[in-house]
Amino acid sequence: MKLIIDYANLEKIKEMYMYYPVDGVTTNPSILAKENRNPYEVLKEIREFIGAEGELHVQVISKIAEDMVEEADKIRQELGDNTYIKVPVTKEGLKAIKILAKKGVNVTATAIYTQMQGYLAGKAGAKYAAPYVNRIDNLGANGVKVAKDIHDIYVKNNIETEVIAASFKNSQQVLELAKYGIGAATIAPDVMNGLIKLDAVTCAVDAFIKDFESVCGENATMLNI
Ligand code: G3P
Repeated sequence: MKLIIDYANLEKIKEMYMYYPVDGVTTNPSILAKENRNPYEVLKEIREFIGAEGELHVQVISKIAEDMVEEADKIRQELGDNTYIKVPVTKEGLKAIKILAKKGVNVTATAIYTQMQGYLAGKAGAKYAAPYVNRIDNLGANGVKVAKDIHDIYVKNNIETEVIAASFKNSQQVLELAKYGIGAATIAPDVMNGLIKLDAVTCAVDAFIKDFESVCGENATMLNI
C-alpha cells in the first residue's frame, strides 16, 4: 500500500517526507483553500519539491464534463502530464473520466461514498478511486468495508484501477486497509504522526537511555564513550 500525504502546506509536506516513507501528495479544493494563496502557486512549489516523477493529485472544480476536461488540460500544462486529475464521481464526472482516460490522462476518481461509484469509476478508466473512509463512517456506514469492497470488485472484474482510500481519522482505519493490500492510503499529517505515536514505545526508549547513562554518564551514546 502506498502512503500519500493529503495536504498542501509545503513545510508540512517536507516534514512528512523527511520522517516517513511517503509516495506522493494529494490535494483537494478545501486543502488548497487553507493555504490562502493562488492554488497554482502552491501546487507548483509542491511539484518542484517532489520532482517531475512524483505523484501529485489535483482536483477539478467544474461540474460539467467538458469543463472538467478543459481544467484537466490546464492542470497538466501547469503541473506536468503525469499529474493525477481528481474527478468527483458524479454522472458528469463519469463522462469526464471516460474522456480523460481515453486521452491517456491519469485520473483519480474522488468523492466516493459507495461501492457502485467505485465500480463505475474503475470501469470508466480511472487509475485510482478514492473512497472517503471517515466521512462514510460518519454517515453511519462502514468506510473501511466500502474501500475493501471496491478493491474486491476490481480484482474480481479484472479492472486495473487501484483504491486510494482517503479521509482517515485514526490508525486503525489505515491498518485495516494496509492488511487488506489496497493500492494506497492518503493521510493528513496529524493522522500520519498518530500512526507511530505510542507512549509505551517512548517509555521503552527512555528506559534504555536511562540505564545506559547510569553506567556511562549523562548524554553518553555509543559514539562518545
Ligand atoms: O480529498 C478528500 C479527502 O481527503 C477528505 O478528507 O479529512 O476532509 O474527510 P477529510
